[in-house]
Amino acid sequence: MTIGFILNGEDVVIRTNAEQRLIDILRGTFQLLGAKAGCYSGHCGVCSVIFNGEVVKACLIPAFKIRGSEVITIEGFSQTDEYQDIVQGFADAGVESCGFCDTGKILAAEALLSRNTRPGREDILMAFEGIKCRCTEPESLISGVMTVAERRRGRLYGRGA
Ligand code: FES
Ligand code: FES
Repeated sequence: MTIGFILNGEDVVIRTNAEQRLIDILRGTFQLLGAKAGCYSGHCGVCSVIFNGEVVKACLIPAFKIRGSEVITIEGFSQTDEYQDIVQGFADAGVESCGFCDTGKILAAEALLSRNTRPGREDILMAFEGIKCRCTEPESLISGVMTVAERRRGRLYGRGA
């Protein structure tokens, strides 16, 4: 089948079979390697992308659902101020990372902060339930996301917001 969609702001057309997963199309056809292939069953979050404005797991999206959609990978998201808030905030807070699930953590943070710029501890833990990370302790994650949130409020509304 031939399908067209928007990938990181560009119109693209590919030939694929209906059952191929979005994660394999991104990595195999487009060499976009920021989303990783992990469990292939929706449990680890390393394959996260923004799909029609929502953060989703690309291993769960078959090709036939991609037609006409808008997909933003971490490579596209890295061009935004929102991405800078997150990576700088995580770095400032000293969030531990081996890098393997960074895409999942960054996009989980974005999914939360795009609807709540002042999240509490429970909001953060809930938002990261779908990310299985071996490296980051929950307290580190909470402090990291709160630092990002403060940074984002400062950027959007001014210091002290
Ligand atoms: S590879 Fe998609 S959630 Fe694990
Ligand atoms: S940063 Fe190492 S598995 Fe998450």
